[in-house]
Amino acid sequence: MTLLKRRKTLLGLALGSVAAAGVWLEPSWVQAQARETLTMGTSPDYPPYEYYDTSSGQEQIVGFDIDIANYIAEELGFNLRVVGMDFSGLIPALQANRVDFVMAGMTPTEERKQNVDFSDVYFVAQNTIIARAGSNLATPADLAGKRVGVQLGTIQEEEAKGYAEADPSIDVRSLNKIGEIIQEIKAGRLDAAIIEDTVAAGFAASNPDLEFNVIPEADPDAPRGSAIAFPKGSPRVADFNRVLAGMEASGKMDELILKWFGEDSPALAAE
Ligand code: ARG
Repeated sequence: MTLLKRRKTLLGLALGSVAAAGVWLEPSWVQAQARETLTMGTSPDYPPYEYYDTSSGQEQIVGFDIDIANYIAEELGFNLRVVGMDFSGLIPALQANRVDFVMAGMTPTEERKQNVDFSDVYFVAQNTIIARAGSNLATPADLAGKRVGVQLGTIQEEEAKGYAEADPSIDVRSLNKIGEIIQEIKAGRLDAAIIEDTVAAGFAASNPDLEFNVIPEADPDAPRGSAIAFPKGSPRVADFNRVLAGMEASGKMDELILKWFGEDSPALAAE
């Protein structure tokens, strides 16, 4: 052994024993500070994907997307900060680099892809018509003459506008938050809304005066489901996709689907 090597070994041993004694050379607060913080934008009006939970006495954003984001941030060695805003403000926030990524049950459409980059799809959804119980609104044709609520800036807004083009008696109203839409239906100021299945199921379960029907798929190629959005050209997409694939392979994703969507989730049944 050369002298230099030996010295290194001795140094290694010395460091090892310092660590073993519980005294690490770099205090943990230095390490914590060295971790970069990623800021995630979301629209927390979308249970079980993301919503404000006040059960702890404090307002906290929780949900399926938040658990995935925390897992990815941890795997990649980042701290995570979650900021809530209106859904229609999310893409502008990415474009202005005010957030590093967005998770908001956001569907990767061709139109959005012109302005932002997307990860792989991590969860698939279908559209439904939600309405007061007994309304029996099951297809777009049933919406003739109805006031139909949609969330501003969503693919559901696009879809409803498409229906209204075909049948101008459909009165499409765009609101900022899903919760407002639900309240307007309950109050009778809207007749229906177009909302994704798992979200509609949650609202219908907690509001027995509401019912929902899945809309028969007209265009099987239409983009459905959720992906993570990034500013165009973001270097992080590949890393996020790698962790997402790992979550699928390890069963972590199924664990979170079960936690947030329950055993009846079509995503679990499909496997
Ligand atoms: N998946 C739909 C879209 O991308 C709706 C998402 C709404 N998300 C929300 N957090 N409110 O347009």
